Amino acid sequence: MSYYVKRITSIILIIFISNFYIGCSSIKSKLNKSDAKKIKIGVTLFDQNDPFILSLGKQIESIAREKEGSSEYEITVNIVDGAKSVITQYEQVDNFIERDYDVICISMFDRTTASAIIDKCKKADIPVVFFNSEPVEEDMNLWDKVYYVGGKSEESGKMQAEIISNFYKKDPYRVDKNKDGKIQYVILEGDPEHQDALIRTEYCIKTMISEGIEVEKVGDDIANWQSSQAYEKMTRWLDEYDNTIEAVFCNNDAMALGAIKALENSNISADEMPVIVGADGIFDILPYIKNNIMLGTVFNNYKQQGKYIFDIAYELATNGNVNAISELKNKKSIKVSYTKITADNVDEYMGKNNFK
Ligand code: GAL
Ligand code: CA
Repeated sequence: MSYYVKRITSIILIIFISNFYIGCSSIKSKLNKSDAKKIKIGVTLFDQNDPFILSLGKQIESIAREKEGSSEYEITVNIVDGAKSVITQYEQVDNFIERDYDVICISMFDRTTASAIIDKCKKADIPVVFFNSEPVEEDMNLWDKVYYVGGKSEESGKMQAEIISNFYKKDPYRVDKNKDGKIQYVILEGDPEHQDALIRTEYCIKTMISEGIEVEKVGDDIANWQSSQAYEKMTRWLDEYDNTIEAVFCNNDAMALGAIKALENSNISADEMPVIVGADGIFDILPYIKNNIMLGTVFNNYKQQGKYIFDIAYELATNGNVNAISELKNKKSIKVSYTKITADNVDEYMGKNNFK
């Protein structure tokens, strides 16, 4: 490539990246020290339209802002949208590297890109913190400056089942409408490559069985975490299976919202409504839990995850000690616990501790 082509390419890339710019905060300390040391943290989100991912991004930024008050560093956090494109995310990583960022944090659109990303970062000696989409163990072991922050996927599936089984055990016929001793269920699944989708699906059903409940699958389909896709699938099932569905497991709340819309659009009566569980605890789902339309969800603690992502990035950028983060100890990943949200405790989440 000639010099000019290279220049033009890099200018275009900078314009391109700034088009996807979500937030870039350079937060100067109150003392406005002109000699403040500077650190730069680059964050690429695989999709800023995903409510959970966007909340995580905002949390990272707000923790950075808080931290700067007590830090000797001027902290730049540049958050960009990968817009569900592997190519865009590669370009964003290249850009952070070119501009000498201290750490790169990434939620991958495609988990299989981990090794290529690690390769780029390793060559530039810039540590990388993956979050939400987890690299496979083999990739995590490619380099010692690779970290991961996410949720305990198994626990989320297990808790979804516990929400239903607790309710069922108290009053079986409110779930088992046809009184055949089994729960007829459908399941709406997220991105089939994502560990949270795979593991939630596996563990919610496994746990139902280990709780001694007989289940019968009526339908399962992939709705890629999205309300609109879930709405379509649920509408189709309602047409096909009439009112035989007794439980709806959703890998996340956005899809639960789609399922609820489909149920609301059908002529199903309140008595015939299946029990529905989701995951995340997004703001829009909480009123449905409060009003007993949805049985419950599991809170995907974006606040704690965002804090760990930032804390690890900060220690790495300042050549501090990541092992001072007690949950990390001498490991490379932190997996945060979920909490059940049902009508009993939904008020706590409708207050300050919610998604916005
Ligand atoms: C999951 C979350 C989903 C979606 C997904 C994106 O943890 O429950 O709602 O945000 O991550 O990868
Ligand atoms: Ca039944």
